[in-house]
Amino acid sequence: MKLTANEMGLQQLQPMFEAISYVAEYVEPDAMNHVQRVSDYARFVAEYVLEWDSEETTRLALAALLHDVGKTTIPRELLLRPGALTADERVYIRQHAHHGFNIIENVERTLVTNQIAFDETLFSYAKQVALYHHENFDGSGYPEGKAGNDIPMVARVVKMVDVIDALMSVRPYKTAWPWKSTRDELRRLAGSQFDPHLVDGLLHEEEEFIQLLASTHHKVSESLVLGAAR
Ligand SMILES: [Fe+2]
Ligand SMILES: [Fe+2]
Repeated sequence: MKLTANEMGLQQLQPMFEAISYVAEYVEPDAMNHVQRVSDYARFVAEYVLEWDSEETTRLALAALLHDVGKTTIPRELLLRPGALTADERVYIRQHAHHGFNIIENVERTLVTNQIAFDETLFSYAKQVALYHHENFDGSGYPEGKAGNDIPMVARVVKMVDVIDALMSVRPYKTAWPWKSTRDELRRLAGSQFDPHLVDGLLHEEEEFIQLLASTHHKVSESLVLGAAR
């Protein structure tokens, strides 16, 4: 398949986005696998649910890699500590959304200053994802309490797939959930945390999505996925 000039531009940016995401996530065990899975799941939603073209799909997949880039500003002791956080600590950690936006904007500014051509839409998506991936569909999220269609679509997608991977992964405070429970949780939170159209769309493509979950480079163990379909 022949790539357009823009698609090549996007491919060249991929190693840079992966490198930045690695720096951001090194503090958490399994973090690089997490961002890669979130990126793959976001790509799946863009392709199968939103039916975006390959350029837009790639942009979302790359932007998703940087969703938590702002966590570089949060001490790792705080991120890794099991147990409940105080209200102040929660406020502090929530700032990673703004920090992420600022970091990506700084990279963008450097490219502009040095007159290096880049894909502006990609950077716009990456900033939207970093800033708004903790907004809830009903307006109860952070940092701005945006609701519904005011939340950029790219952030609504990453919000959903980030939670899917968090639920299906081991964390200091929880075990890994099987797909079946994760799917029930998606349904339960459709319309409050998640865009209900995205939840419906994903569950409509459930068989395909389970194949992605089970594919070998994902660290989600087979036992979690098996028996998941019904
Ligand atoms: Fe985050
Ligand atoms: Fe995440």
